[in-house]
Amino acid sequence: MSNPEALTQTSPAAGPDTAASDTGVQDAMPDAVKKLFIKTYGCQMNVYDSERMAEAMGAKGYVLTDRADDADMVLLNTCHIREKASEKLYSDLGRLKPLKRDKPDLKIGVAGCVAQAEGAEIRRRMPLVDIVVGPQAYHRLPAMVEAGGAQVDTDFPVEDKFEHLPQRKGYRGPTAFLTVQEGCDKFCAFCVVPYTRGAEVSRPAARLMREARELVGRGVREITLLGQNVNGYHGEADGADWTLGRLIRELAAIDGLDRIRYTTSHPNDMDDDLIAAHGDVPQLMPYLHLPVQSGSDRILKAMNRKHTRDQYFRLIDRIREARPDILMTSDFIVGFPGETDQDFGDTMDLVRRVGYGAAFSFKYSSRPGTPAAEKPPVEADIADSRLQELQALIITQQRAAQDSMVGREISVLYEKAGRMEGQMVGKSDHLMAVHIDDAQGRIGDLVRARVTAASSNSLAAKRIS
Ligand code: 5AD
Ligand code: SF4
Repeated sequence: MSNPEALTQTSPAAGPDTAASDTGVQDAMPDAVKKLFIKTYGCQMNVYDSERMAEAMGAKGYVLTDRADDADMVLLNTCHIREKASEKLYSDLGRLKPLKRDKPDLKIGVAGCVAQAEGAEIRRRMPLVDIVVGPQAYHRLPAMVEAGGAQVDTDFPVEDKFEHLPQRKGYRGPTAFLTVQEGCDKFCAFCVVPYTRGAEVSRPAARLMREARELVGRGVREITLLGQNVNGYHGEADGADWTLGRLIRELAAIDGLDRIRYTTSHPNDMDDDLIAAHGDVPQLMPYLHLPVQSGSDRILKAMNRKHTRDQYFRLIDRIREARPDILMTSDFIVGFPGETDQDFGDTMDLVRRVGYGAAFSFKYSSRPGTPAAEKPPVEADIADSRLQELQALIITQQRAAQDSMVGREISVLYEKAGRMEGQMVGKSDHLMAVHIDDAQGRIGDLVRARVTAASSNSLAAKRIS
């Protein structure tokens, strides 16, 4: 392959018990070991799915490698949310052609939302692909690989895929994702998720508690609960219906679980108990990603968001009442069909009023099959300049949020060693990256520190405990 480094491995924190660094296993049976390279595109739910696919393939003797040109199987776990994300798959597949030519036994798999949306079309466009597996069918990946030959599986099976995946015995690292809910029933007019990930399904609470305990047993101290609509969670436990607030309260009782986060939420699903949990569950971190997409009532309506800007403001007031130091983040789309200068001005005004710690902003991308795709787009130049203007404002706010931390005492969970000798890198309660000189520090330590300096993307701090 011309540039194997351009394809990078999925989360190094995860992997099967037989992961490459687990030399005991590798040395004992070098011939039996096959290497799996996974590239993950898009959201954190895909990162979680990649981890689970790695674990499932690990049970069949595959270990993770961080080099595509070294692998027996390459798996691309794709994202369909915007056109650019989707097209990335085809350019990466193109780059794999020489590798497959030199190594005909190499298996190439496509997973995730492009697999779901395009199915067999992917193999027609790129015959080098052996396996296409959708996000609801990936527990069948090991069987598909074992069976050999070309296969496409984009079913939404009734069986719970999570029940068919191996236990998370191989998990490493102090932080982990836990998918609690999948799919979305909201049907925002621009979004493919309800089509690629299907209807909202919540995983049973007892199973989540079991998976969380397993993770904590492996040394995990921070769990991020994931779902396309995570605060729409309604999971069954002993005949009762647990909301996300209830689940968080129960998780907080697990000894050794120090931090809980969740993402991504919808404003209309922030119920009273969840807001209250931000005030009275110390393990719930003071950080909330609450996408609003636009600050214009007209556009919010056209987007089918089913709330107004005033309702969003009131909601944020209530959340800040419960947890005054909470750091808010959001997603924005500019250039949605019909967006005028006035509408965009309303978005800028909303951002100024809320004051975000960070935010993602995207230029609207027309997605086939969604209602908004029928409407004429905003001129590209106009959308581009709005995006620049919005991003400049967000960067200013992000910088102010980082600067405001200087002098404050924070907690930091060490996730890895820094580039400098004796330096550790971790995340603060507010999910900011923090560098600390700490020769005694170990990955997984949760320390108190005082912030000494800030840049736009990270903090420097001195350990005080
Ligand atoms: N165009 C641009 N951005 C989109 N998003 C979702 N669909 C589109 C689209 N068609 C953004 C939204 C969402 C985030 C995950 O991606 O802001 O919150
Ligand atoms: Fe897409 Fe989120 Fe809207 Fe669901 S709530 S349709 S995932 S943007």
